[in-house]
Amino acid sequence: MDFTFTEEQLMIRDAARDFARNELLPGVIERDEKQKFPAEQIRKMGELGFLGMMVSPDYGGSGLDTVSYVLAMEEISKIDASASVVMSVNNSLVCWGLEHYGTEEQKQKYLPRLAKGEILGAFCLSEPEAGSDATSQKTTAIDKGDYYILNGTKNWITNGGTASIYLVIAQTDAGKKHHGINVLIVEKGMEGFEIGPKEQKLGIRGSDTHSLIFNDVKVPKENRIGEDGFGFKFAMKTLAGGRIGIASQALGIASGAYELARAYSKVRKAFGTEICNHQAIAFKLADMYTQIEAARHMVLKAAWDKDNGKDYDLSGAMAKLYASQVAMDTTIEAVQIHGGNGYVKEYHVERLMRDAKITQIYEGTSEIQKIVISRSLLKD
Ligand code: CAA
Ligand code: FAD
Repeated sequence: MDFTFTEEQLMIRDAARDFARNELLPGVIERDEKQKFPAEQIRKMGELGFLGMMVSPDYGGSGLDTVSYVLAMEEISKIDASASVVMSVNNSLVCWGLEHYGTEEQKQKYLPRLAKGEILGAFCLSEPEAGSDATSQKTTAIDKGDYYILNGTKNWITNGGTASIYLVIAQTDAGKKHHGINVLIVEKGMEGFEIGPKEQKLGIRGSDTHSLIFNDVKVPKENRIGEDGFGFKFAMKTLAGGRIGIASQALGIASGAYELARAYSKVRKAFGTEICNHQAIAFKLADMYTQIEAARHMVLKAAWDKDNGKDYDLSGAMAKLYASQVAMDTTIEAVQIHGGNGYVKEYHVERLMRDAKITQIYEGTSEIQKIVISRSLLKD
């Protein structure tokens, strides 16, 4: 068993760390406060190759492995989880889905610009009445021969207002249940496609979340990804990898909070000594670091599974379930270690605590991860 990273993986991690400190940290509090999308920072991330990390260089990507991706995700998430969800959706859901299941024409048309961050993508599965219960799609894509007519509403879509292309999952043949679902590439500006108001959120407030409304949108058949009826499998297979990305986001939020808490405990004094000298505080740090290391191993194992052609449904779901719980526990303790300062914005930990919560909800809630995990364990 080899626990060492390659030179390249370390270089990517360090580049992401430098970028996060130099480009994301300044202004992160203001963006959170004003719900401001980090447009300029995302543009730079695209130029540096962070938005198409695993995309083949043939399609303009960085051609890196999943381990490099999760290392970079952790570093970006330590500082700005709003930027990292944009990164995660673009990389793991949109680029990966297109590269693995798209036609050559679709890949040539969209991937190079997505991978460089010239355009962003969105992944549109959830609906007002189909979140966890994702097979209950109400959005319809009626087959009209050369095109589909798309009608319905998607909810809580990340990059909803800022994306240029949208992978929309919709029901074509309700009689076939989930085997009658398709995934279509919808472009911003198509007639009948409307973007709803931006959601006002608890955390990841810099990210751009909207509902999307489709009213008789005519989508050419060449915009369908995969065979007729492949849409639900597409969503599940794509999300299996996406969950590794969100697990690394959770890990980053946790380790960011831990680093801040550790540093604070070494300078803040109470009862004549730095608070880290009180065992109650030192033991909190010990617990936080132990849990973070365990989560890191799980995230890296899932990434390694993906890179080595192993099944990663189970390891990815377990990594997300565990790392998101660690993100919640660690950020709450980081606020506690900061005392009153933990409750005010300039110390960052209250934001990390708010950001942590979403990692237990999106890309499958923790309860859904337990369904995925237990079904995998009980499978013959
Ligand atoms: N790979 C391939 N196929 C899979 C699969 C996987 N990982 N998981 C399920 N499937 C297939 C099943 O094999 C089945 O197909 P067959 O009938 O041909 O065998 C089909 O999908 C339906 O599976 P189930 O019968 O298990 O379906 P279910 O209704 O019991 O639900 C579920 C399964 C796992 C709970 C699923 O509905 C689910 O994942 N729900 C959560 C949805 C989710 O994660 N949404 C995230 C939206 S994106 C997002 O959130 C992005 C963001 O925030 C940034
Ligand atoms: P529900 O499914 O209504 O669940 C409510 C509660 O019931 C949860 O605790 C859930 O775990 C529990 N529950 C449901 N079913 C079961 C069960 N069978 N057993 C046990 N417990 C159960 N979606 C996209 O498609 N694309 C995106 O880009 C995207 N981005 C998002 C960004 C944000 C900020 C948010 C908040 C959401 C985003 N989502 C996105 C949607 C997200 O994936 C869903 O919110 C999530 O899958 C849960 O669905 P729901 O909200 O409908 O909750």
